Amino acid sequence: MTGAAREVLTFDAADFAERTATLIEETIRASASEQNRCRIVLAGGRTPASVYRVLAQRTGIPWAHVDIFVGDERCVPLDHPDSNYRMITETLLDALPTPKPTPYPLQVALGSEAAAVEYTMRIAALPEPKFDFVLSGVGADGHTASLFPGDDRVMTTHTWAMVATAPPQFPVKERVGLTLRALNSTRLQCVLCTGADKRAVRARILGNAPDAAALPAALLSGQDRTIWIVDPL
Ligand code: 6PG
Repeated sequence: MTGAAREVLTFDAADFAERTATLIEETIRASASEQNRCRIVLAGGRTPASVYRVLAQRTGIPWAHVDIFVGDERCVPLDHPDSNYRMITETLLDALPTPKPTPYPLQVALGSEAAAVEYTMRIAALPEPKFDFVLSGVGADGHTASLFPGDDRVMTTHTWAMVATAPPQFPVKERVGLTLRALNSTRLQCVLCTGADKRAVRARILGNAPDAAALPAALLSGQDRTIWIVDPL
């Protein structure tokens, strides 16, 4: 792994959403003040929903200076219950006052290939590092965003977004998501790994097990900070 060494923060369930929201809020305030703009990538899945709800209740965050990208999307309509963008909209965007942040959903209605091209072009136009804050989730199998173990495309370096196929156990297999290169082009990388179902994968990754490098989540890093948020064992 290149980038900043991992810091591991242990938050219990009562604190998890507030403390994670604070990390995001601090980044937004600092970037908006130093650069006038803050670009963040939000994770899908279930774990971050409580973080987004807490963030939506905070006051005085300079949201008008924030661009919101998504780490990955399932290829369903953006108002479908399985849509990551729908989750982000319902838990965060709809609840924010105006002026709101500028959201950049993956345009899956165009088709997965076209959505990946559209996102790649959009991200290519940004200066590096592409993002100030990337929030990433982890699956029990070690995937992150739509980067799945065993998929050669995880190491793709020539593009910023790509089409992916989730393994059979996932209800929506057709995905589009940021490449590892894009996810790691960030000042701060924040990885959420909580819940009993993720304890084994967390032990492998944070314990630097010999086979951990085969797990995409183990390859996440940030240029300034790489933070793993876990719950007490
Ligand atoms: C998705 C994701 C995915 C997610 C992890 C963790 O679309 O499924 O973005 O990478 O972050 O699977 O999901 P949970 O938070 O639901 O466990």
